[in-house]
Amino acid sequence: MIDSIEQLVKRALEAIDQAKETTDLNEIRVRFLGKNGAYTEILRGMKDVKPEDKPRLGKLINEGRVRLETVLAEKEAAFRAAEMARVLEKEAIDVTLDKSQPIGSLHPITKVKNEILDIFVGLGFKVEEGPEIETDYFNFQLMNIPKDHPARDMQDTFYVSENTLLRTHTSPMQAHVMLSQKPPIRIVVPGKVYRADDDASHSPIFNQIEGLVVDKDVSLAHLKGTLDTVAKALFNQDTKTRFRPSYFPFTEPSVEVDVTCSVCGGSGCRLCKGTGWIEILGAGVVNPKVLENCGVDPNEYSGFAFGLGVDRIAMIKYGVPDIRSFYENDVRFLKQYK
Ligand code: DAH
Repeated sequence: MIDSIEQLVKRALEAIDQAKETTDLNEIRVRFLGKNGAYTEILRGMKDVKPEDKPRLGKLINEGRVRLETVLAEKEAAFRAAEMARVLEKEAIDVTLDKSQPIGSLHPITKVKNEILDIFVGLGFKVEEGPEIETDYFNFQLMNIPKDHPARDMQDTFYVSENTLLRTHTSPMQAHVMLSQKPPIRIVVPGKVYRADDDASHSPIFNQIEGLVVDKDVSLAHLKGTLDTVAKALFNQDTKTRFRPSYFPFTEPSVEVDVTCSVCGGSGCRLCKGTGWIEILGAGVVNPKVLENCGVDPNEYSGFAFGLGVDRIAMIKYGVPDIRSFYENDVRFLKQYK
C-alpha cells in the first residue's frame, strides 16, 4: 500500500509537470483527487488495513494529498501570471507611436487674447462674454447711437434682419452687464465682431476686447493709469502711451490711445509708418447718457471704457503686415506661432 501511495503521488507530480494549461490541471485534479479519482480509491482501501497500520498510512495519504494540492495551486498561479503577461503584451498601446497626427496649437489671436486677458484679470477685472448676433437696440441705441445718427457710418454693418445684426463691436456688452449687475463693475469682454470691410488692415471678422469700469468717482486719470500699466505689461516696461482726443458716441471725452512702436522703440520704422506710434484702442469716460440708458445713475456713478483691437496687437507683436492672414487658416502661417 505504501508503494502504491508513493507511486500515485509520483505519477500525479509528473502529470502536473507536463501540464500545458489550466484545463490540463483541472483534468489532473479530477483524475487524482476527484470523487472517483485514484486517491479516493486508495482511501477506500483503508478499511482493509490493519488498525495498527492505519495512523501511519493515513498520515502518508494526507501528506501526499496536501502536496499534490499545493503543487497544483502553484502551477495554476504560474499559468495565470503567464497568461496575464501575454495579454498585457498583446494589448499594450504605445502612446508615443502614432506620429501621423500633427499636434495642434493655439491660434496666434487666441494666444494674444489670453495674454491680454491675463493682464486685466491680474488687475482685478472679471471676464464676461456675450452674443455675436445682436439687436440694433443693444449694438447702437443703448450705446447712444440712435437710428440715422451719422456715427452709424463709422461701422459698416452686416444686417441679419431689420433689427438684428452681427455685432460691429463688443460695446453692447457694456449694456448687458450694466443692466444685469450693480456697480462697482470691472469687466473685460473678449469677442469676435463683424464689419463689411476688407483690406490689409481690415478683416470682415476681427477680435476686440471691451473694457468697462463703473464705480464712484471714476475718471479719465484711472483710464490712463490702467492702460499705461497694461501696455507696459503687454509690450515692455519702456512702452509709453499717448492719448489723442477723438470722438465716440458712448464716451465723453473720448480718446484714441497709441503706444510707442515695439519694433523701433519710437524712432520710426515701416510698421509705425515712421511716426514711432501705433494706435491700439479707442476709449473714454462713459457718456452719462449710456449710464442712464443702462439703469445706472450718472449722478452717483461714473466710469471709463475702452475697446481694444486684438488683431492689431497681434500684428504688432508678431510683425504681421496683413490682418487677413489670421483668418485664411493657412497652416504654414499658423505653424510659425506654435
Ligand atoms: N466700440 C469702438 C469701436 O469698435 C471702440 C471703443 C471706443 C470702445 C471707445 C469703447 C470706447 O468702449 O470707450 O470702434
